[in-house]
Amino acid sequence: MRLTATELAAWGEAYGAALVAPAVVTLAGDLGAGKTTLVQAICRGLGVTEPVTSPTFALVHEYRGARSPVYHLDLYRLRAPNELAALGWDELLGERAVVLIEWPERAGEALPSSRRALTLAHCADDAERRELQEVS
Ligand SMILES: Nc1ncnc2c1ncn2[C@@H]1O[C@H](COP(=O)(O)OP(=O)(O)O)[C@@H](O)[C@H]1O
Ligand SMILES: [Mg+2]
Repeated sequence: MRLTATELAAWGEAYGAALVAPAVVTLAGDLGAGKTTLVQAICRGLGVTEPVTSPTFALVHEYRGARSPVYHLDLYRLRAPNELAALGWDELLGERAVVLIEWPERAGEALPSSRRALTLAHCADDAERRELQEVS
């Protein structure tokens, strides 16, 4: 799907409203592809009322959703999967929570096999739209 920012927000809110914990959702794509924008929309759909900001430095932020905790991870600065333990990775994956992960490829084999995967990409011919794919 090629979506404008408004369309992406609407899609993300509906996607979040339908998400039931426990759930892991990965969001892959280049810098500026819209991962954080989509996470913010998904969080609105999950009933998060706090501002959702990029966890680039903290790597993980926790929010209160209407039905479960929500974790937002940005693994861009992760140097190796063995650094995940310090983030409380095993604990948060073991919770009945929704876990939203940007730069999931940095986690390598540590990613759980049962996950939903979204990818976002710039459109070469349209700066206002992003290509969104629901991979699984
Ligand atoms: N269709 C679109 N969907 C999402 N973001 C868009 C779109 N068009 C333009 N943008 C802009 O692209 C940027 C995406 O940034 P961000 O969501 O932080 O990306 P990422 O987290 O993937 O690095 C924002 O500045 C946003 O306003
Ligand atoms: Mg981001």
